[in-house]
Parts: sequence; C-alpha cells; structure tokens
Amino acid sequence: MSRVQESHIYEALSSVMEPDLKKDLVTLAMIEDIEIDEHENVSFSVVLTTPACPMKEQIKNACIDAVRKFVPDAADVTVNLKSRVTSSGGGHHCEHERPLKNVKNIIAVASGKGGVGKSTFAANLAVSLAATGAKVGLIDADLYGPSIPTMFGLQNTKPEVADKRIIPLEKFGVRLMSIGFLVDSETAIIWRGPMASSAIKQFISDVDWQDLDYLIFDLPPGTGDIQITLSQTLPLSGVVIVTTPQDVALADVAKAVSMFRKVHVPILGLLENMSYYELPDGTKDYIFGHHGGEIFAKTQGIAFLGAIPIDRGVREGGDAGLPYVIGRPESAAAKAISEASMEVARRMSITNAERSCRK
Ligand SMILES: Nc1ncnc2c1ncn2[C@@H]1O[C@H](COP(=O)(O)OP(=O)(O)OP(=O)(O)O)[C@@H](O)[C@H]1O
Ligand SMILES: [Mg+2]
Repeated sequence: MSRVQESHIYEALSSVMEPDLKKDLVTLAMIEDIEIDEHENVSFSVVLTTPACPMKEQIKNACIDAVRKFVPDAADVTVNLKSRVTSSGGGHHCEHERPLKNVKNIIAVASGKGGVGKSTFAANLAVSLAATGAKVGLIDADLYGPSIPTMFGLQNTKPEVADKRIIPLEKFGVRLMSIGFLVDSETAIIWRGPMASSAIKQFISDVDWQDLDYLIFDLPPGTGDIQITLSQTLPLSGVVIVTTPQDVALADVAKAVSMFRKVHVPILGLLENMSYYELPDGTKDYIFGHHGGEIFAKTQGIAFLGAIPIDRGVREGGDAGLPYVIGRPESAAAKAISEASMEVARRMSITNAERSCRK
C-alpha cells in the first residue's frame, strides 16, 4: 500500500485558501480526481469557477507547495486545472420564469454616454473569454447603431434558420447576434422603443444559443427608456460600466450606476477606456484627465477593472473586423483589455458565490 493516502492530500489542500472566496479548496469542493501511483506520484484536479480565473497559476502553485510541505512522502505533484463556470441563477427573475435557462451568466456592457468604447470592450471581452475555453455568446443590443457585425467582419452575413430558430453566427469562438445580421440599418433606425425591446426579446427567445457560460450584451448608450426596459426584462447577472476619464462622462456614469442599482443588477466593475496615450518616449499623456475612473469607482464602492490606453490599432482592429486581443495580443492595450476581461469573469464568480451564500 502506498505511504501517501488520499486523506493526506485532502488535509494538505485544506490549508490552501481560495483568495477571493476566502475558504479553503476542500471546503469549497474544488478538489477532484486524486490519484496516487505506486511511486507515490500524486495528481489531482482543481475545479475553478471560471476558466478565465486570473489567479489560476497562484492557486496551482499554492497547491503544489502545500502538498510538498505536508506530505513529504509525495514524489511528483501534478495539478490539473479544470473549470465549471458558476451560474447567477437568473438574477432577479424566479427560476421557473427565467428565460435562457442554458445560459449561466448574462453580462451587460453599459455606459451613460455614447462612444466610450462599450462595443469595443464587449467584442474583445467575448473573444478573450472564449479564448480561455469558455462558451460565449454576444448580443448586439444596439438596434439603432449596431457595430458588432463590423467588429467581427460579418457585415454581409445572414444567420441560418433551423426549426424556426435562428442559428447565431460564430466567429473567433463567439456566437453572435445583431440586428445588423437581419435587417439593413435604415430599417432598424425607424423602430420605436417598444419594437426595439421586442426585437431584443426575440434575440433571447428565437435564437438557438445552446449552452453558454457567458452571454455578453453590448447595450446602447444612455440611461433612457430602452436601457431601463432592457435591464428589467433581461435576467442580467451583472453589468460592466465603461467610461472615459472625463468628468462629463463620469457624471453620466453616475446616472448609469444608480439606474442599475435601482433595478438590482450587480455592478461587476468600472472600466476606464481611452485613459492615456503613450508617447514615443514611453511617457503617458493623460489626454482626458488622470485616474478619474479609478477615483470614481472607489467613491462608489465598485471594483475598478483597469485602464485601457488609446491606441490607433484598437480602432483599426474594430473597423477591420479583427478584435485587438487577437490582432495584436502583445500590445499594451490588448493586454489591458485581456486582464480586464479576466477580472470581469473573476468578479462574476465572486458575485455568484456571495449570492449563493445569501440563499
Ligand atoms: N482604447 C481605444 N483606443 C482607440 N480607439 C478606441 C479605443 N476604444 C474605442 N475606440 C474607438 O472609439 C470609437 C467608439 O468606440 P465604440 O464604438 O466601442 O464605443 P461605444 O461606447 O460602443 O459607442 P456607442 O455609444 O455609439 O455604441 C470606435 O471607433 C472605436 O474603435
Ligand atoms: Mg456601441
């Protein structure tokens, strides 16, 4: 019989804390598939709450250290990282009336103001999460100015219909739906509010999304009727607020924050876009003001998701249908966008854990 027992591994791992959930990995039932071979080689899986967990390497190393420390007889220690994305369970909707039962988390990207980079971030967030292995969908809820078809290079592509359900288009691993795939832009422009929200409802009920870990909603700008109707009709799990550092943008953001608070949608965090421009000598020019978003987030008690620099390539990538995180992953802007995306997934997991504790 092996000197190393399964119980020793559990004991060792019960000393490893999940940094966000503040409980140990064994209590959180995050350890699976423990195997010990005849040479005392140990392997096990850690089941994360999202494949986009920004702390996965830290957790993995802490597990290896704990087993080495508490089980000196163990030879090699191999940790496999797996994930089972947690679900928000339908937000403020009751479980039985919840649309999109196969979608674990519905995340809106919103702002009070237009042109701050919502669609750019929504597209890159969706692609970044899909690249980690998550199942991701993206809905362009901007019926009057849809930009997702351009940002994914799918301007002239129409989705197919099977069994009276629309099959979402798919690109860069993301399932996509936009009014721009269905009607020409002139037709959408004449729609009135109620028609617009019924079109969004159709994106939910008539599109064959299948199982999704994250469904991202790129919302239109503002805090008007459409946004309020959408945030009440959609079973939103959380919202990401995008802003630029300018005061005027922040005043609009305050309105957006209070609107989402009123309708009880958890605010996952604030992203500051177009934060600075990096000059050729490496200095940063804070064109629209310094740290406005971060200070605002702090005073509002919401998480700060990061600062994205102004980079011509971000715009060019959007226009060319190649999200920047794929086109130039090594650039400072793409790295900042990816890190903010992982932070969104992390915040969603924390929000889900807190919600399930309250139940
Ligand atoms: N970090 C950035 N650097 C350079 N250009 C950017 C950056 N972020 C966004 N842009 C560009 O700014 C413009 C507005 O961005 P985007 O369309 O994403 O904003 P939006 O908030 O969705 O706008 P709307 O309110 O009209 O929906 C686009 O041309 C986009 O390519
Ligand atoms: Mg937009």
